[in-house]
Amino acid sequence: MTENGKPLTAVVLAAGQGTRMRSERPKVLHTLCGRPMIVWVLEALAPLDCERAVVVVGHRADEVSEVIDEFAPDGLIVSTVEQPDQRGTGDATSVALSWLQDEDPEEQGDILVLNGDGPVITSETLAELVVMHQMSGTSATILSARLEDPTGYGRIIRDDDGRVVRVVEEPDCGPEEAAINEVNAGFYCFTRPSLGTSLEQVVPDNAQGEHYLPDAVRFIVESGELVEAFEAPAEEILGVNSRADLAIAEALLRARVNEAHMMNGVTIVDPTNTYIDADVSIGQDTVLLPGSVLQGESAIAERCEIGPEARIIDSVVGPGSVVTYSVVRESSLGEEVSVGPYASLRPGTRLARGAHIGTSVELKASVVGAGSKIPHLAYIGDADIGEDVNIGAGTITCNFDGEEKHKTVVEDGARVGSDTMLVAPVTVGRDAYTAAGSAITVDVPPGDLGVARAKQHNVEGWVARKRGKREE
Ligand code: UD1
Ligand code: CA
Repeated sequence: MTENGKPLTAVVLAAGQGTRMRSERPKVLHTLCGRPMIVWVLEALAPLDCERAVVVVGHRADEVSEVIDEFAPDGLIVSTVEQPDQRGTGDATSVALSWLQDEDPEEQGDILVLNGDGPVITSETLAELVVMHQMSGTSATILSARLEDPTGYGRIIRDDDGRVVRVVEEPDCGPEEAAINEVNAGFYCFTRPSLGTSLEQVVPDNAQGEHYLPDAVRFIVESGELVEAFEAPAEEILGVNSRADLAIAEALLRARVNEAHMMNGVTIVDPTNTYIDADVSIGQDTVLLPGSVLQGESAIAERCEIGPEARIIDSVVGPGSVVTYSVVRESSLGEEVSVGPYASLRPGTRLARGAHIGTSVELKASVVGAGSKIPHLAYIGDADIGEDVNIGAGTITCNFDGEEKHKTVVEDGARVGSDTMLVAPVTVGRDAYTAAGSAITVDVPPGDLGVARAKQHNVEGWVARKRGKREE
């Protein structure tokens, strides 16, 4: 129920293939700041009081429906309905209306139609469109915008008295119409009976041979009813038809996401060079240095320093942690840990409080206990490293025997010497040491030193003899 107490139903058009994207993927599933395009539209819709949203799917309908089921915002009742042939936006809207007629004949109220390829639209603008429509008492209100370059958009045609009379699509425009810079944004509010009646009159008599939804405007006006346009900020109405549009839309959304984090107390040193997905959370007083790429469902706590050049994907970073020039994927970092430069944390890495992972270290499916250090040049995979352990430079877990992965355990307080090969499965016991350069193939008991290397012998006078030979 809207502010005026009138029910509102949303229809989202998302059946098209998006030919100009040149993609295997349906257009509305391309992501912007990590979120599928259609989900941005549904998120913009969610705060409005609409009874239900009907998304019209068609091209690769199953894939699109699946994403909608999984990611539709909480609190919005979303149904999908299939448009078997993509015969145009008018046909798509008719499909939704007949589904509503069968499914939900009562309480449809006004119909808010949204293009599924307009991810930059805001809730505020949509809410204003609905209020304008309901206050003006017209049969339809189109969201419009004035663009410096209106290429590609339907032009809004007004009569001599300035009343909206129709919308002409770009391919059907004569030179005078093409010069009009007031365009159809692809979001509309209709009264239900006027939409139904006018859509019945829409025929594909145009350059593209499609049933155009904007033609409904002409039929509503011809029946003596009023249509108005409500102007939106130009940057909100971008329709994504190509990869170039996708990049422009993403830049607009990225700026919006970054701004929200800055409002919440996050320092972003260079917002034009910081890439944060829509669903990432970041705590207060965290500093993001240039080149930070925070993706998926990552959660960065307060007081962290991220970057320069850090990519963090689906990971949790605890308070006060530092990640520099590194990649962190599906991992969890506790409080006050430090990672990098040049570390790669692969899925299943868990670092406890105060752990330090240094230069050129790769970790995979490993737990590192509180206060433990792996400062330089190491590969640690499938390992369980206890607390206050030191792993020397160049240490490698030989975790793969060519067929299976095996586990390495290094217990609390152990010191693994530089360049140790830990041939798994193997355990280095509590407070034990391994000698530098050892290939450890059997367990080292707690408190012992494991040495596994050839004994050194020095060849006396070898250099002089060698040089003497050369001089002969
Ligand atoms: C449409 C409008 C145009 C407006 C522009 C704003 C029409 C005819 N034209 O043009 O006036 O300026 O949006 O961005 O509506 N779709 C379906 N089923 C179909 C065809 C399309 O569901 O049979 C969906 C698409 O998936 C897309 C949306 O409708 O999400 C818009 O379709 P698109 O082909 O992109 O329309 P435009 O040519 O951009
Ligand atoms: Ca479009």
